[in-house]
Amino acid sequence: MLKPDQGSAESKAVPERLPKKLSLDTRLALHRKRLQDSAIEAPKTKGKVVRMVGLTLEATGCHAAVGSRCLVESISGESIEAEVVGFGDGRLFLMAIGQIRGLAPGALVTPVKRTSEVAVGMSLLGRVIDGSGAVLDGGRALSLNEYMPLHGEPINPLGRSLINEPLDVGIRAINALLTIGRGQRMGLFAGSGVGKSTLLGLITRYSDADVVVVGLIGERGREVQEFIEEILGTEGMVRSIVVAAPADDSPLMRLHGAWRATAIAEYFRDLGLNVLLLMDSLTRVAQAQREIALAVGEPPVSKGYPPSVFTRLPQLVERAGNVAGAGSITAIYTVLVEGDDLMDPVADAARAILDGHICLTRRIADAGRYPAIDIEGSVSRVITRLLDPGQLALAKQFRELYSTYEHNRDLINIGAYTRGSDPRIDLAIETYPLLQSFLQQGLAEKVTYEQSFSQLQALSTSLQMAS
Ligand SMILES: Nc1ncnc2c1ncn2[C@@H]1O[C@H](COP(=O)(O)OP(=O)(O)O)[C@@H](O)[C@H]1O
Ligand SMILES: [Mg+2]
Repeated sequence: MLKPDQGSAESKAVPERLPKKLSLDTRLALHRKRLQDSAIEAPKTKGKVVRMVGLTLEATGCHAAVGSRCLVESISGESIEAEVVGFGDGRLFLMAIGQIRGLAPGALVTPVKRTSEVAVGMSLLGRVIDGSGAVLDGGRALSLNEYMPLHGEPINPLGRSLINEPLDVGIRAINALLTIGRGQRMGLFAGSGVGKSTLLGLITRYSDADVVVVGLIGERGREVQEFIEEILGTEGMVRSIVVAAPADDSPLMRLHGAWRATAIAEYFRDLGLNVLLLMDSLTRVAQAQREIALAVGEPPVSKGYPPSVFTRLPQLVERAGNVAGAGSITAIYTVLVEGDDLMDPVADAARAILDGHICLTRRIADAGRYPAIDIEGSVSRVITRLLDPGQLALAKQFRELYSTYEHNRDLINIGAYTRGSDPRIDLAIETYPLLQSFLQQGLAEKVTYEQSFSQLQALSTSLQMAS
């Protein structure tokens, strides 16, 4: 997998020290330069652009496979990088990775030899890169000379090892009540502003994973900066890699961001490490895929989403997990649910392909309890494999008591419940403050897996005394 030549071309193209805020155009220019270098050895069957609709270009006269790259020459002689996204009627459908400017009819299209690979290496740790792999943090140029396929290698389903070891995420409510296993894929479902990014940041800082790869896909640029500087901080960055493809990047670049983050996680997993992959958000990945599919003429079937979105999502998610003889990728994907829209097709598909979900609700966040995890609405599908019977019993007791209160909350709040009518409800009312404070966790507070269970045990003991 070693390709020293391409590695040095890549490091040459990026200057030693980059200005802190690199514009999208500069990043793309650097990336194009790298591609141009590789175009020199490429077969020269040039085609030309015959049609352009929205972001899609149609070219005739050249051959290239879907997924491969081409350079399209603009009127000013600049090269625009594009990817083949489809074909039909003797034409190639291309989509630009960056912005399209100055393109005229008949623009030349040159397929480039370079295949879709992701440069990887240990020096990625602590760095922030974009969907094309260019450095965003203004630090030293990366010199990487190992490569992973952007789209991953399929894992033989029988080559996966079972999920039976818990991953300490440093969050009490998750560790004790929604235990996540190494290699598990979880969804983090919530509306905007409910605390998804903050929770992911805490998990990045406090989990006991060896490496954390964070994919920030389709967020606003400001949120990316906030996440890195305020939520992650230097403590969180040390063993993390952030791949950021904000909303103003092209749909292809956003999609590549998600794949790149996953490929980097695969690299560290293959080194035998326990990797945590955090993707914020899976909904934006699906939307990027939707933009591309609609642009090449695929018909929408479900709330504007074409069918390929629902085949691509599992392909992405299936890349996480355990591989026998290697490390693990535990993944948490955030999924946007606006206005409690349970019919959202992406949320629906995500629920089906993930091994559990954590829901954050606005009602709880508005009441000031963070992390705003809705214990009743959340489930980890492998919890019974991870906990011993004693731990399971503790978790079950907590859930039952909490649910009893929640189901009777309205009655209790309007004063319609008379104490003494049901001992279970009495106990729930009495202990509700304890349950709430168990679920609450401060931003600077790390609670290990062992601490989570000893605190749950202590809570259970005080419940017994109360009853
Ligand atoms: N654990 C927390 N403790 C205190 N405040 C929080 C916490 N999580 C979220 N918040 C508040 O909620 C706001 C939005 O959180 P954020 O993580 O950006 O939400 P999302 O990513 O879901 O849009 C934050 O600016 C902060 O004020
Ligand atoms: Mg966010």
